[in-house]
Amino acid sequence: MGSLKIENVKKSFGKVDVLKGIDLEVRDGEFVVFVGPSGCGKSTLLRIIAGLEDLTAGDVKIDGEKVDHVPPAKRGIAMVFQTYALYPHLSVRNNMGLGLKQAGTPAAEIEKRIAASSAMLSLEPYLERRPAELSGGQRQRVAIGRALVREPKLFLFDEPLSNLDAALRVNTRLEIAQLHRRLKATMIYVTHDQVEAMTLADKIVVLNGGRIEQVGGPMELYNSPANEFVAGFIGSPKMNFIDGARLGETAKTIGVRPEHLTVDAKNGTWKGTVIHAEHLGADTNLYIDTEKAGLLTVRIFGVYNAEPGATVYATPEPGKTYRFGSDGKVVA
Ligand SMILES: Nc1ncnc2c1ncn2[C@@H]1O[C@H](COP(=O)(O)OP(=O)(O)O)[C@@H](O)[C@H]1O
Ligand SMILES: [Mg+2]
Repeated sequence: MGSLKIENVKKSFGKVDVLKGIDLEVRDGEFVVFVGPSGCGKSTLLRIIAGLEDLTAGDVKIDGEKVDHVPPAKRGIAMVFQTYALYPHLSVRNNMGLGLKQAGTPAAEIEKRIAASSAMLSLEPYLERRPAELSGGQRQRVAIGRALVREPKLFLFDEPLSNLDAALRVNTRLEIAQLHRRLKATMIYVTHDQVEAMTLADKIVVLNGGRIEQVGGPMELYNSPANEFVAGFIGSPKMNFIDGARLGETAKTIGVRPEHLTVDAKNGTWKGTVIHAEHLGADTNLYIDTEKAGLLTVRIFGVYNAEPGATVYATPEPGKTYRFGSDGKVVA
């Protein structure tokens, strides 16, 4: 079992309020991602759950029990960090087993768990190597293996893929998703990357400035963002925001995603001039300076040839625009 309840958690460092009242429930077996810009308090919240940081107010409950007096090692939690923090002089096998050995686990049990975990992570060929003899991706798998052997109730990941190159990030992301499906363990994963959040999470928690902006499934946040912040943070390229007054609208801001705009050389809603075309192969990002709506990004499926300076018209898909009030919240 590994359920978690966070009640009105606040954290201040001196006079700086870093977490301003966080309420959150994580069900047993859920994959929850904390996402938000750098400095919004993600790591602090994760460290509070792990017991590595005291809280200023509020409660953390694991499986219904308050854990404020439970030391980190006794919380049934394992944490994986961005920096792998492996012991350079120890083999993969000993890096994975060290924590268990220190906790007094019998040698046979340690061997059994290393065998199971290294099989799951395809690390068997590397068990006798030292970290320096591994690639970055393999090192991060060892760090995950070190967490796995502890058989925790709760896995905490703090930006574990940030040090890997793009291709490895995708591979390792896939491995973590499969691992979660196989183990059915509760996982909380911190990232500043909304793509990681969208691809991994059952439930995404969007944090900003020490507060939760919205909690929901990936498609829920994409389709029904509660406010301008979430609308702009989830989705790539970012949602276009147009000053409502320019369009004669009562809403402060009108939002439309780049993939919900179509372009045509002759007809459409907003006439504009092509500024730049980004050819990504599978699709094209077109930047258009429009008379009425300002600068717009349009995402077109496939190849679209347009020279800078060409006149085009952008048209929003019906029913795919968002309206935000002066407080940034969605309005009907
Ligand atoms: N030990 C600390 N002392 C003072 N300020 C801290 C400490 N740890 C974090 N902070 C501040 O708290 C804020 C949130 O930090 P952090 O949780 O690491 O953000 P994130 O992980 O979302 O990037 C930042 O402004 C950071 O400077
Ligand atoms: Mg952090």
